[in-house]
Amino acid sequence: MTTQQQVKPTLWAGRWGFVLAATGSAVGLGNIWKFPYMTGEYGGAAFVLVYLMCIVALGVPIMMAEIVFGRRGRGSPVDALKRLARESQRSELWSLVGWVAMLCGFLILCFYVVVAGWAFSYVWKTLSGGLGLPSVEAYGALFEATNSNVWTLGGWSTLVTVLTMVIVGRGVQEGIEKSVNWMMPGLVLLLAIMIVYAAFSGGFKEGVNFLFAFDFSKISSEALLAGLGHAFFTLSLASGAILTYGAYLPAGRSIAQTTLLVAFCDTVVALMAGLAIFPIIFANGMDPSSGPGLIFMSLPLAFDQMPFGSIFALVFFVMLSLAALTSSISMVEATISFLETHTPYTRGRLSIGVGFVLWIISLFAVMSFNVGADWKALGMTVFDWLDYITSRWMMPLGGLMTAILAGYIFNADSLRDEIGLTGMAWRLWRFLLRYVTPVCIIMIFLDALGWFTLDLSHQWYWIVAIIAALALLGETLSRRHAAG
Ligand code: PHE
Repeated sequence: MTTQQQVKPTLWAGRWGFVLAATGSAVGLGNIWKFPYMTGEYGGAAFVLVYLMCIVALGVPIMMAEIVFGRRGRGSPVDALKRLARESQRSELWSLVGWVAMLCGFLILCFYVVVAGWAFSYVWKTLSGGLGLPSVEAYGALFEATNSNVWTLGGWSTLVTVLTMVIVGRGVQEGIEKSVNWMMPGLVLLLAIMIVYAAFSGGFKEGVNFLFAFDFSKISSEALLAGLGHAFFTLSLASGAILTYGAYLPAGRSIAQTTLLVAFCDTVVALMAGLAIFPIIFANGMDPSSGPGLIFMSLPLAFDQMPFGSIFALVFFVMLSLAALTSSISMVEATISFLETHTPYTRGRLSIGVGFVLWIISLFAVMSFNVGADWKALGMTVFDWLDYITSRWMMPLGGLMTAILAGYIFNADSLRDEIGLTGMAWRLWRFLLRYVTPVCIIMIFLDALGWFTLDLSHQWYWIVAIIAALALLGETLSRRHAAG
């Protein structure tokens, strides 16, 4: 069956279809909820620096590779990688990387619906006059209360699950992705207004310093792994999302330009969210490392103090919810597209089945905040585990494998043909994937496993030396191989 699969008929409509969909996937709760709270948890600027370096040196080249794989292989991650392996006369076992990615996207969605549920519930709180509390403590208590009731929290996450599966099942993603068209400028404008507000809040300087006073010596092992994982998470990499969307990309679009555009939008939104949030946190004497509730405790307070605050709050939480949906639909697309090719069922039916499994697992993530708060392994709840396993291990590992596939396994001529890069640009992309990405990811892993401690302020030249030595060796060997 797999040998005879046809090219997917569904291609993105219009010139901007893919860009909108990929931006919709990338920009989400990762930027506005996760980035600020992780920055707070891992000490501010040190984390931001790791994150930015990982986006540029690892995230961008890997995103390009995923789009290339998707468009060349025209199918779900498993099918696309199989086809590429066959084309390159390599073992079809490489498609295992696709299986892991698909699973990763699915597992992320299991906890993502809970966070998206928070966003939805704050839309409701704004509408029903539940905000307007006097202090950060009061908002902290409200966030606790939202979580403590398993039925309400479960209700909201169920709503998100149903909405996601209905959109995916009816194949109407395109409609919702079009919302990215006005949502992105809207989000940027709203964040800009909030930054202006934050500039007058009294904590701006402290906030900016916290985010941008880079200091290599403050980078901890945890911050390294967390920053690496978050770079992949925020760009939707190694989870089947971008690869599967790439499968619907028409030939002739520049993959490099598209990637740069998506990564740029994604980074801008995250940094703006940080700039809007941290000044408020410092001005109100909040602890930046308050964890996942950070934005739900700090932002409502800022809205309360702004003129027309409740309107801003409403618009903000609606946009956050929409941004979450344009991401959540991309997380199951790989699974649905895989099942669509390998089972006789329709999209609609498959979404019901997949949605059901998802819903069951997501309920455990919901219970992590209330009845199951004590169900812990190594100090982590189900929610924490889902996040930890996917962001810290599956995504960086998937990214590493993607780099290896693109750099060493798949036929270089096919890749070059597909990506359409020439000269320096092509060589730079190859170099990043063959040497920079693997060395950096492996080093961060070894550091996280405690094999050694990476101290970037003193050892960065070691990394450069290792990359250079490997590059020299690798290129000489492959030249010999080609000549011999
Ligand atoms: N990039 C999304 C965000 O920042 C999350 C995501 C991860 C989406 C993996 C798809 C796949 O919210």
